[in-house]
Amino acid sequence: MNNSPRHIAVFASGNGSNAENLIRFFNRPGSNARVNLVITNRPDAGVIDKAKRLETDVRILTRQEINTPETILPLLDSHKIDLIVLAGFMIMIPDFIVNRFNRRIINIHPSLLPRHGGKGMYGANVHRAVIDSGDTQSGITIHYVNHHYDSGQIIFQTQIPVLPSDTPTTLEQKIHRLEHLHYPQIIASLLPDP
Ligand code: GRF
Repeated sequence: MNNSPRHIAVFASGNGSNAENLIRFFNRPGSNARVNLVITNRPDAGVIDKAKRLETDVRILTRQEINTPETILPLLDSHKIDLIVLAGFMIMIPDFIVNRFNRRIINIHPSLLPRHGGKGMYGANVHRAVIDSGDTQSGITIHYVNHHYDSGQIIFQTQIPVLPSDTPTTLEQKIHRLEHLHYPQIIASLLPDP
């Protein structure tokens, strides 16, 4: 039996708190998976320093490079990537990657999809929309990535109350805590067989 660790690529465009949390979770001795590649599209993204500090290979690719099979597929292949995990990645995953990694691309969204998903719904925009719409619950959604924004099959959701005193900032903090708690565990349960 082949017991070599599964390889995870994390795609992130921003601060990278989820990426850091995933690296810390998986890159421990004895783990059956490793984050061995981080891809970002922003040269100023906070995730770059976080990944470097945790000795994880990080590559900055332009939107065009991400959309070019001859550039990105050899990079994923050379790292033997089994699973792609999106953590605040702001570029649509091109069809050729979705096709190649069928049901092996996972995203996390900071609301209870299908509420408050789709283009332009990211970060504080989501939490503001939740509060403005008077929702009494919010939460996180972990789902497979397909060819459209935020519409792939839902794998996991969990919710928390939205309090009258909540602001987009307090809600974002609570949602981040929820993400850090659940995302690694859910990914671990979805690792493809060796
Ligand atoms: C998270 O809220 C995630 O749900 C969303 O983007 C945010 C990324 O946060 N897709 P961070 O960069 O991991 O801190």
